[in-house]
Amino acid sequence: MAHATAHHDTAHEDTSPFDVVLWGATGFVGRLVAEYFAEHYSRSDTSQGKISWAIAGRNRAKLESLRRDLKDQFSLSEDLSILVGDALDPESLDSIARQSRVVCTTVGPYAKYGTNLVEACVAHGTDYCDLTGEVAWVRDIIDRYHEEAREAGARLVHCCGFDSMPSDLGTLMIQEESRKIHGRPCENVRLLVTDAQGGFSGGTLASLFGTLERASRDDRVRSILADPYALNPPGTRSGPNEGSQDEGLQDEGLQDEGFQWGARYDQTVGAWTGPFLMAPVNEKVVRRSNALMGDLMEDRHGGDGYGPAFRYAESTQFGPGLSGAVKAYGTALLSATLVGVVATPPLRRLLETLALPDPGEGPSREAIESGYFDISLYGWGRDDSGTRFGVRGTVAADRDPGYGATAIMLAESALCLASGEANSALQGGCLTPASGMGMPLTQRLQDAGLTFDAEAFDLRG
Ligand SMILES: NC(=O)c1ccc[n+]([C@@H]2O[C@H](COP(=O)([O-])OP(=O)(O)OC[C@H]3O[C@@H](n4cnc5c(N)ncnc54)[C@H](OP(=O)(O)O)[C@@H]3O)[C@@H](O)[C@H]2O)c1
Repeated sequence: MAHATAHHDTAHEDTSPFDVVLWGATGFVGRLVAEYFAEHYSRSDTSQGKISWAIAGRNRAKLESLRRDLKDQFSLSEDLSILVGDALDPESLDSIARQSRVVCTTVGPYAKYGTNLVEACVAHGTDYCDLTGEVAWVRDIIDRYHEEAREAGARLVHCCGFDSMPSDLGTLMIQEESRKIHGRPCENVRLLVTDAQGGFSGGTLASLFGTLERASRDDRVRSILADPYALNPPGTRSGPNEGSQDEGLQDEGLQDEGFQWGARYDQTVGAWTGPFLMAPVNEKVVRRSNALMGDLMEDRHGGDGYGPAFRYAESTQFGPGLSGAVKAYGTALLSATLVGVVATPPLRRLLETLALPDPGEGPSREAIESGYFDISLYGWGRDDSGTRFGVRGTVAADRDPGYGATAIMLAESALCLASGEANSALQGGCLTPASGMGMPLTQRLQDAGLTFDAEAFDLRG
């Protein structure tokens, strides 16, 4: 390997580590995150407080070019530090983890490049956040490192991008509001993607294809993808989302089915709904949050969890009437076809040769800035008298979900971990955004321009 030890090229004391090291700074999302840190947390006139941070990656020339660009674009007065290593060289990662309070990584596919960095962070008790949506890899990391990370006090927070931040923090927000208004959390939460516009990068497609390729040759990976509780701690890997729909809810026009592959009319919102392709990832993350926060694994439910009866599901919302039905059925058909094509090796290879972006490429700046997403969440529960209550919420942003908004989410996650403001009793282990950082992260994202709103909702209205 080229680098036995990652070294940096500006004066920096090993005894005072960087607040944040951005690993993968020269990639498509990495660059967006670097620009965000430079614009908001590095300039001498910043109102947000400067941070000490470094850009890191495998290619010194690319890192130096990025540093020059950042300096020019954001008029930075000081030189940023550069750390050089390689994802496949454990010694260089050891050096990077030792010099950081938080490592924020965009180096994916994570199943291919991510494990050595996790190991280094656990060894040094360094906090960590990433953008993975690769469920089978997250499960491997939980199995191998959760206990060790807990003992070392290293918080490993996966899925800090569009997958699965709006789902996980949106549900936490609904439950906080429910506790405030009704004194208890909702038993059911449903997320509906009402509108979104955005693109794909080569890195995301490489990660998606990598996951499906593993699934096509490995039964264990397939069963992890299909299991709604695959990311839960041992002892909590079953629950109400495996079962059939609650009959009582059906009578009241509410739906709480598990993963939705088909089209169906949703009476709660009066619109047709169809599948949401990221639901199998997000739903598992939200269920892990519930288990970790409520201590379900030790059979003494309490704390800030949502309870053992909690159900959660996601889908895409279309309009009412015929046009809504056509879109919902069309999306169901398209999703099934896409999954079928990508899971079939010759068809996947054909797709890869088409004009899809390569790693390092992604949507244009204009597309990122004109992108957006709008998500609704509906929660319902029952009070002591058995009467149903509802809470409704919105999570939204006026940037491309997978890139513009994702870069803000990852950057603010790293800062939330570095600042010590996370309000979680969990000081180590494989955590989720909600269980590891909680509402302080939501506040940070609101301050950064994202919308998080919740209010009481009259189910009979
Ligand atoms: N959760 C979400 O919502 C979300 C959204 C967007 C992306 N993602 C995920 O984020 C990841 C990055 O996406 P992207 O589009 O930014 O990908 P990308 O442009 O391909 O960037 C990948 C980065 O990894 C670096 N890298 C590759 N091999 C390496 C090695 N051996 N050692 C060190 N660094 C190495 C690359 O370095 P070079 O610059 O030197 O090539 C680059 O910085 C993907 O896994 C993607 O799925 C998730």
